[in-house]
Amino acid sequence: MNLAKRNRILRASPAIRAMVAENALQPSDLIAPLFVVEGKGIREEIASMPGYFRNSVDLILKEVRELHGLGIPAVLLFVKVPEKLKDNRGKEAVNPGGLMQRTVRAIKEALPEMVVMTDVALDPYSLHGHDGIVEDQQILNDETVEVLVEMSLTHAIAGADFVAPSDMMDGRIGAIRAALEQHHHHGTGIMSYAAKYASCFYGPFRDALDSAPGFGDKKTYQMDYSNSREALLEVSQDIDEGADIIMIKPALPYLDVISKVRQKFQVPISAYQVSGEYSMIKAAGQKGWMDESRAILESLTCIKRAGADLIATYFAKAAAHLIRDGKS
Ligand code: PBG
Repeated sequence: MNLAKRNRILRASPAIRAMVAENALQPSDLIAPLFVVEGKGIREEIASMPGYFRNSVDLILKEVRELHGLGIPAVLLFVKVPEKLKDNRGKEAVNPGGLMQRTVRAIKEALPEMVVMTDVALDPYSLHGHDGIVEDQQILNDETVEVLVEMSLTHAIAGADFVAPSDMMDGRIGAIRAALEQHHHHGTGIMSYAAKYASCFYGPFRDALDSAPGFGDKKTYQMDYSNSREALLEVSQDIDEGADIIMIKPALPYLDVISKVRQKFQVPISAYQVSGEYSMIKAAGQKGWMDESRAILESLTCIKRAGADLIATYFAKAAAHLIRDGKS
């Protein structure tokens, strides 16, 4: 054959492929979500997330140092709240001495360079397992936003670099930004879960925090997976209200959403490879049906290719090791 163009030339060797790669995953792209529990020396494996643990604060500090050593710049904190502290108004969520607030302080004290992001939502604190205050089986919006604002302020005071509202109430980004300004927390950022879908892929996470909704589902506040134009609206509103980073969640089934948002907006985009995405890869790997390491690198690189600048993933540590060892 006499071809004018042979595309395989650029795929001929690992060196050439690396030269022309359009995207390369870096540890600095990654955010490690961490689950914190009360106590000391506690490290509990999460049944539906094999290889992932809830840690007490002392062990979280060890974990954070390890992540930092691997070049991972940020952690995203979630706390498991004892049943007796749960209520319908998030009283414990706004406790300046609560587990979240103490964990933030401990990390910033031990390792100030680590970027600390905090989950802002009521579900781990809620008797009902919902992200907001419940009345007559309805999730109240404005009353919830008031608590989220107060909660965010306690995180900012504790030293959080970013608060990350994952609740999907309307108007919360503007309200949080206004309160941060008013209280002179001018340096605290907001990573908004702008397009968060009502997804079955959160199942294992709800096991991790014992936060499954006690009644109904989250479809009156999280987005319908049939929609993507609506995601653009959510993102645009959150940017207008003062979000610094916007998040799309879950990640792999929503690459089209990441890509559309990337084409339209200039802010940094993060994507959350959620618990169910983790557990699927883990389970298939354990069964020998798929190569776990390659699935990790491929899925994360594809999320980046779609347009994500940052990826929150339970594989952060594993991915950083794979990158360091030159795996692809
Ligand atoms: C709740 C919250 C959830 C996740 C992060 N924050 C679960 C939910 O909305 O029910 C899911 C994360 C994951 O599945 O990894 N505010």
